[in-house]
Amino acid sequence: MFKLENQVALVTGAARGIGRRVAESLADAGAQVVLADFSDWEEDITEIGKGIFGVRLDVTDPARVKEVVGNVVQRFERIDVLVNNAGIVRDNLLIRMKEEEWASVIATNLNGVFFLTKEVVAKMMRKRYGRIINISSIVGQMGNPGQANYVASKAGVIGFTKAVAREVASRNITVNAIAPGYVATPMTENLGEKAKQDLLGMVPLGRMGSVDDIANGVLYLASEEAGYITGHVLNINGGMYM
Ligand SMILES: NC(=O)c1ccc[n+]([C@@H]2O[C@H](COP(=O)([O-])OP(=O)(O)OC[C@H]3O[C@@H](n4cnc5c(N)ncnc54)[C@H](O)[C@@H]3O)[C@@H](O)[C@H]2O)c1
Repeated sequence: MFKLENQVALVTGAARGIGRRVAESLADAGAQVVLADFSDWEEDITEIGKGIFGVRLDVTDPARVKEVVGNVVQRFERIDVLVNNAGIVRDNLLIRMKEEEWASVIATNLNGVFFLTKEVVAKMMRKRYGRIINISSIVGQMGNPGQANYVASKAGVIGFTKAVAREVASRNITVNAIAPGYVATPMTENLGEKAKQDLLGMVPLGRMGSVDDIANGVLYLASEEAGYITGHVLNINGGMYM
């Protein structure tokens, strides 16, 4: 598999689910990985395993994002890989959707990606190397009833990815998105049995995705071998959307 020795990675929303597995697989590939999440860990960067560090970070807070990115660079000297993974859902039909449900999803899923990318890209530019991977969603491509806020945020992430990819390509920084299909994580565990069966009926490969399916894609896009790929949206969805 791909090697990330001597590299430093920052993964948001990494306390559980996809982010956790992504962080572990980057660490397995040899990177030093900082896991950031608002639900675990201390304010200071703390070693929680071999080559794995945790830090408390709310991605919706730009001042704190700046502080944490600064602290990571102070401690490890650089950031080679950024995975913008933190995300939330607040589902509701549009006519019932409260302003808070709209605003909180945009704040985490889209503003958070902006804050992190802006800070990290400035550090990557100096080193003339970087890999940014934004976790979007299949529904950002297909649409989904009851998720206008989430879909808008995830479609926004795809547009953001392409714009920034063009801006920073000359600095040897690639920016790509991954659009997962339905993946078994705490985010999707509350789906009813019927909804799950209906969804599986739409997946040609006939199963839900695993966190490893997504982590493998992130690892590839984070690798030096993926250096000629930028502005791309990698579908990891079992064929549900082609
Ligand atoms: N599970 C799926 O089927 C699926 C499908 C497509 C896309 N995604 C996307 O993948 C990403 C990870 O999803 P998951 O299923 O692992 O979700 P999850 O709910 O299991 O984990 C999300 C993590 O993000 C953290 N987080 C939320 N808001 C944050 C904030 N403001 N600051 C810092 N951390 C925050 C949470 O604490 C949690 O640890 C999300 O962006 C999600 O939208 C998931």
